[in-house]
Order: sequence, then C-alpha cells, then structure tokens
Amino acid sequence: MIFKLLSSVPLLLALTSCRCQSGGSSEASKASPEAQLIARGRAVYVSNCTACHATNPKLHGSQGPDVYGSSKELLTARILEAKYPEGYKPKRESAAMPALPHLKNDIDALHAYLNAP
Ligand code: HEC
Repeated sequence: MIFKLLSSVPLLLALTSCRCQSGGSSEASKASPEAQLIARGRAVYVSNCTACHATNPKLHGSQGPDVYGSSKELLTARILEAKYPEGYKPKRESAAMPALPHLKNDIDALHAYLNAP
C-alpha cells in the first residue's frame, strides 16, 4: 500500500509541474496561428510603415494613403519592387515609397494584419 502511494508521487509531481508550465506560457503561444500572424504583421507594420502611413491603416498617414484591405498582390508589388499589380489604379500618383525588399518574409503577416476585421 505504502509502496503504491510512493510510486504515484513522481507521477503526481510530473502532472503538477506540467500544469505549471502551460500556465506560465505567454499569451502569444496560446493564440491561434492566425492571431499570431496578425500580431506579427502589426509589429512589422508599426516598425516599418508608420513613418509614412498612419498607425491606424484605415486612415491617411503623414505621407502614405490608407492601406487597410490591401491585397497580397498589391503588398508584394509595392514592398518588393515599389510597383503596382498590372491594371491596379494607385491611390496616389506619386512614387515616394521606396521598395522594402528585406520584408519579403513578412508579406503574409502584413497582409493578415491589414485585412484583419
Ligand atoms: C517613406 C515613406 C513610406 C514608407 C516607409 C512606406 N510607405 Fe507605403 N506608400 C508611401 C507613399 C507616399 C505612397 C503613395 C504612392 C507613392 O508615392 O509611392 C505609398 C503607397 C503604398 C501602397 C499603395 C496604396 C494604394 O492602394 O495605392 C501600399 C499598399 C503601401 N504603401 C504599403 C506600405 C507598407 C505595408 C509599408 C511598410 C512595410 C509601407 N507602405 C511603407 C509611403 C511610404
């Protein structure tokens, strides 16, 4: 009997420590993959775009227009090559925005953020 009790102690410890670990994990790891992508997109947007575009992408910025709802094609063309998809009518005639090709791996995240409800 005592042996049985003792032998269950490690198991109990393992169970409780397991619970502790998951309780201590950050909010981000609990969020859905989609929510995590949106959060990453928001961070990329705030640090790379808001010098010109408004912090709220639905509004006009100091230099750039509103960009909420941008398609992945538009974001890819603009960010990688400072171009527009064929047939797209730009919101502005200017060509002030530089290409930001170092963000090539962040386009999915930006797209998720800029199209989040
Ligand atoms: C140096 C200022 C600047 C930065 C930084 C910048 N933009 Fe722009 N952006 C502009 C301006 C100005 C325009 C209007 C067209 C032009 O002059 O190039 C524009 C146009 C756009 C357009 C096209 C809008 C349309 O529908 O015609 C998109 C999309 C866009 N920017 C997204 C972004 C994103 C996303 C970032 C960050 C990764 C970013 N921009 C960073 C200045 C900037």
